[in-house]
Amino acid sequence: MPLVPFQHMQSCDISPVREALLNARYNDEACAGIERGAVLAGQIDLDAAMDETSDGSPRSTMVRLLMLGTRVSRADAERAFGEAGLRVLTETGVIFERDGGLAAEVSVLPIDDHFTVRDFSPLLGDRPMTDDHVLGVGPSTRILADLTVRPPVNDVLDLGTGQGYQAILAAAHAARVVGTDVNPRALSCAAIAAGLNARANIDLREGSLFEPVAREQFDLIVSNPPFLIVPPSDLVAVTSRFEGDQLVERIAREAPGHLRDGGYLCMLCSWHHHAAADWPQRPQSWVEGAGCDAWIMKFEMLTPAECTMKFRREFQKSSLNRVQREEWLAYYKKLGADLVTIGGIILRKRAGRNWTRCDELTPDYRRPWAGGVIETVFENEAILSTLAPGALLDARPTLSPTVEVEQRWQAAADGGLNVISATIRHLTSLQMPLAAHATVLRLMTLLDGQSTLRAALQNVAASMGLDPQQVLHECLPGLERLARLGYLKLRGAFP
Ligand SMILES: C[S@@+](CC[C@H](N)C(=O)[O-])C[C@H]1O[C@@H](n2cnc3c(N)ncnc32)[C@H](O)[C@@H]1O
Repeated sequence: MPLVPFQHMQSCDISPVREALLNARYNDEACAGIERGAVLAGQIDLDAAMDETSDGSPRSTMVRLLMLGTRVSRADAERAFGEAGLRVLTETGVIFERDGGLAAEVSVLPIDDHFTVRDFSPLLGDRPMTDDHVLGVGPSTRILADLTVRPPVNDVLDLGTGQGYQAILAAAHAARVVGTDVNPRALSCAAIAAGLNARANIDLREGSLFEPVAREQFDLIVSNPPFLIVPPSDLVAVTSRFEGDQLVERIAREAPGHLRDGGYLCMLCSWHHHAAADWPQRPQSWVEGAGCDAWIMKFEMLTPAECTMKFRREFQKSSLNRVQREEWLAYYKKLGADLVTIGGIILRKRAGRNWTRCDELTPDYRRPWAGGVIETVFENEAILSTLAPGALLDARPTLSPTVEVEQRWQAAADGGLNVISATIRHLTSLQMPLAAHATVLRLMTLLDGQSTLRAALQNVAASMGLDPQQVLHECLPGLERLARLGYLKLRGAFP
């Protein structure tokens, strides 16, 4: 039985299932015995996992049914979900009768204290990857979540919501979230997930790009679209119906028209280009003159041969696998793609003279959320763009709470230890490391929002026996760099 269409799903009361999952402690920790990564990578030892879940407890039944995708008895399922829970799971098509027991149509996985709903990994139990396959929370999902700014806002759009994870996160800091997708099965998964996470402020709509929100404005748009550049196929979560990087270009070009003043677009994307040094040109041209400040990020650059090898392997269980290696390479040639850059674009709509910056960054999604740092960078850039030369010295900034300093020490010839280098970085998924001189480190200890940078630097110069004028002159570019990387918070730092 297929999943109930998302329009009906949105009016279903799925709370008995949520209660059952919470009561059984079906959460990240509880499922640790079954390594989720192994489940998704198809490297699970299913026999061992079945042994581990043989106690008949509600949680074991949930793991078997919703994580491992195996059949459970009706009696066990009733014990796990209760009569009401079982009824709603059956009515919505999440579970169905199979060989005298019950099986799940989709997987429900606890991730970071949220319930997510996705298709079972094709690598688990050798399932096919159908063209409407709903992907789960993968590295790209997490990277986008980490790069999303999260001020309290009214309206958020999650374009290409898929399993709905971005919409669910946004629903915690927005009055209303609209999640759109071209895949109705994805919208059904997102609707179930919204219910399981008790997020009633998510409005799901079917359609391509901005069609479902034609005349609406948002404070935040997030998008993890099918951004990989791969040959056309019907695998909608990965390939879209657009050539090359046209889909992400459309999102980047059209998003500013749907942003309120001060609103952000946070999206992942990839684009093709010729020489390595040209990497920012294409996305820059998409956002030029759009009335937005823009931060264009490069995470990774691949050759067509690398793309072909990497993506063919990743989607080997899908219809994309029917495209032969030569056809993949010919596709990149047809596009004129000598290189492909994978990265992100963050825009903020702002009246006045806009800035664009392009950085090579390496986000690490296993580290904490970086959205706060990103907001600081946008605020600082806007302030710096209006400052007269040297005026930064009058600022009374505070340090970003995400600052981390790492020092390397070495034994000195005459005994003791000397600091030989220091690196400042953010404790977040965007680290943006910066080598720091001793004067900068001393300065950072003095930033309390009360003293100006000038006074703090004079203080440092005096304590180190240096000429204050020279220190002021030499440190100014470094201070700008600290602000540009979000280590200093300039908002409210000027009288
Ligand atoms: C990579 S998945 C991302 C899912 C989820 N937002 C996440 O972050 O994990 C991309 C989603 O975009 C949807 N999509 C594909 N083409 C689209 C289009 N033209 N307009 C809107 N969504 C589209 C796919 O169906 C899929 O659900």
